[in-house]
Amino acid sequence: MKDFAGKIAVITGGGTGMGRELARQLVAEGCNVAMCDVSAAALAETKGLCEVEKLPQGLRVTAQVADVAIEDHLKRFRDELVEQQATDKIHLLFNNAGIGGGGSLFTSTREQWERTFNICWGGVYLGVRTFLPMLVKADEAHIINTSSVNGFWASVGMGVSHTAYSAAKFAVKGFTEALMNDLRLNAPHIKCSVVMPGHIGTSIVSNTRKVQSGSESDRLNPNEIVQARQRLKGMGTDVTTLSDEDIQQIASDRARTFRDEAPTTAAQAAKIILDGVKAERWRILVGDDANLLDERVRQNPEKAYTQEFYENFAKEVGWRIG
Ligand SMILES: NC(=O)c1ccc[n+]([C@@H]2O[C@H](COP(=O)([O-])OP(=O)(O)OC[C@H]3O[C@@H](n4cnc5c(N)ncnc54)[C@H](O)[C@@H]3O)[C@@H](O)[C@H]2O)c1
Repeated sequence: MKDFAGKIAVITGGGTGMGRELARQLVAEGCNVAMCDVSAAALAETKGLCEVEKLPQGLRVTAQVADVAIEDHLKRFRDELVEQQATDKIHLLFNNAGIGGGGSLFTSTREQWERTFNICWGGVYLGVRTFLPMLVKADEAHIINTSSVNGFWASVGMGVSHTAYSAAKFAVKGFTEALMNDLRLNAPHIKCSVVMPGHIGTSIVSNTRKVQSGSESDRLNPNEIVQARQRLKGMGTDVTTLSDEDIQQIASDRARTFRDEAPTTAAQAAKIILDGVKAERWRILVGDDANLLDERVRQNPEKAYTQEFYENFAKEVGWRIG
């Protein structure tokens, strides 16, 4: 798809981060946008940002609260967008919503594990199921599924368990790669791409907490303090001398530095993704860190989960994300 003007794009997780920047850049190119998120406040902010410049006559930006892990929410989102965008087709589907967390079979609860997996994998799968009939009706269409570098490397460093997110992101990558042929055989006017970002400066750390705890508060609850202690201990920090308040501070500093000190901004990431779609690339790596990690894992897969591999890579790209 060379041109987004006049098309209709669906974006999941449009409230913040890369979803928000995708919405802004698509609207700037004259594309209609229908987005969903679990946060009504974040959606309203994105919508406001899209409408800062007066929208050209007829261009629509619509937003619905919907949880991508729940099929009925996605169906309601679809039915409302059919009405609000006055359409029976869409051209672009960005399955972007995601959270981290649920890392361990030992120290995370089963609920946390499955919440992460059901959003990151289930949300993509259900998104495709829900919107496929509307993509089929378009003259040309493109599905963009957001995986991660954790879709080909299942770690964020040796001291942190990362099983639910990695399992989900590998699933997104495998599904999208296999979908290419299914589309070629059955709906050749639809293309698909898998997006694999490295470290992008977004609020995913604090949003993950909010979605996992079901609370809008920025403060950790007692269970989260226990889990944050375990995580820090796993990373080699002496936690015995740290008060709960110290743990709160470390957690909010981590969320802030993750957002503010990333090598790639959310806006840069969105541009790379949209350029990749225009160039019809099926694999879209986002950021120099993602490109380098892809090379390194291929060069030496047997060493990919060693301390030495991680330390050398993290030093080279300046990663401090664990
Ligand atoms: N930031 C990174 O470094 C990074 C790296 C690789 C992959 N990713 C992936 O990129 C995608 C976008 O993440 P981001 O970094 O922009 O984070 P973000 O937290 O800024 O944006 C994600 C949005 O999804 C929403 N969301 C969460 N759960 C949802 C649900 N169940 N239903 C609907 N909306 C939901 C959040 O409220 C948020 O607005 C995610 O799939 C993430 O896993 C991010």
